Amino acid sequence: MKNKMLKKYAFLAIIAVLFLSALVGWNDSQKAAAKEKERQPIIVQGPMPIEAENFAKRLKNVKEEKSGDFVFYKGTLDKYPVIVVKTGKGMENTAAATAVAIERYNPIAIINQGTSGGHDPNLNVFDIVLGKRTVNLGSLKTADKEDGQGIDPTAWKPMDLMASEGSAGEDPNAEKARYYEGDKDLLAAANAVKDSYTKGKIVEGTIGSADVWNNEVDRIEWFHTKFGTSVEEMEGASAAQIAKAYDVAFLGIRVLSNNKVNGGKYNPNTAAANQEYVYEVVKKYISTKPSK
Ligand code: 5AD
Repeated sequence: MKNKMLKKYAFLAIIAVLFLSALVGWNDSQKAAAKEKERQPIIVQGPMPIEAENFAKRLKNVKEEKSGDFVFYKGTLDKYPVIVVKTGKGMENTAAATAVAIERYNPIAIINQGTSGGHDPNLNVFDIVLGKRTVNLGSLKTADKEDGQGIDPTAWKPMDLMASEGSAGEDPNAEKARYYEGDKDLLAAANAVKDSYTKGKIVEGTIGSADVWNNEVDRIEWFHTKFGTSVEEMEGASAAQIAKAYDVAFLGIRVLSNNKVNGGKYNPNTAAANQEYVYEVVKKYISTKPSK
């Protein structure tokens, strides 16, 4: 009789222990899932296939998603969520791809990277510019001229479309360039892994963007003097503008694939070199995240 009772209690005790440990296990996996959810992804944008696919191939557990023409390669790097986005070229594609990515994935940071053309004679093909600032080189206001008075591009003034909600054409306060600042934590991560890059030098500078490829050296020099540009490309400022609108950390990282100012010939291999470096930057940035 006593023996039977003991067996019964022992059985109940085992059931209770099993139940409790299952509960703890379930709780742990719930917590892990919640933590995974909390980790906001890092977005790495590249305009052309050669500027995005190398990076995407290095991610783990990649799932591909599309929206319009934009391709999102959702994966992980060191177990942290990273999404590579092939945006397509130009300001409009990039602005839209940035807004879609922010709305869909709630990123913690956005890196816009790819190739560029030099404005600074001290920069050579394969050198990399970290965008301490990014500026839209297509936001311009022309001089006032009447019929028959001609066109005078060097008299054009920078125009800040974000100066107010009123007319930028009429507002004298809008006659200035709008610079988007690179995020300091992203810049710190980029500077910390500078030595991993051996194909050229890495400098902080100003990235200028517009849907224009400038081949007139005098015009390039005009931008270099007036806007302080180190390089030009066709995407950075549009991504920076949208990232700012949503208060998301942003950095442009651009390799020179050409430099008209000092005769640097176009080399498409620079795109892959930049992605290798940006991979190290992202790795470093992830290592500083407390949730890691
Ligand atoms: N001017 C403008 N865009 C350039 N790109 C590379 N070099 C230049 C340059 N000199 C990049 C742009 C765009 C594609 C044409 O290459 O960002 O994505």
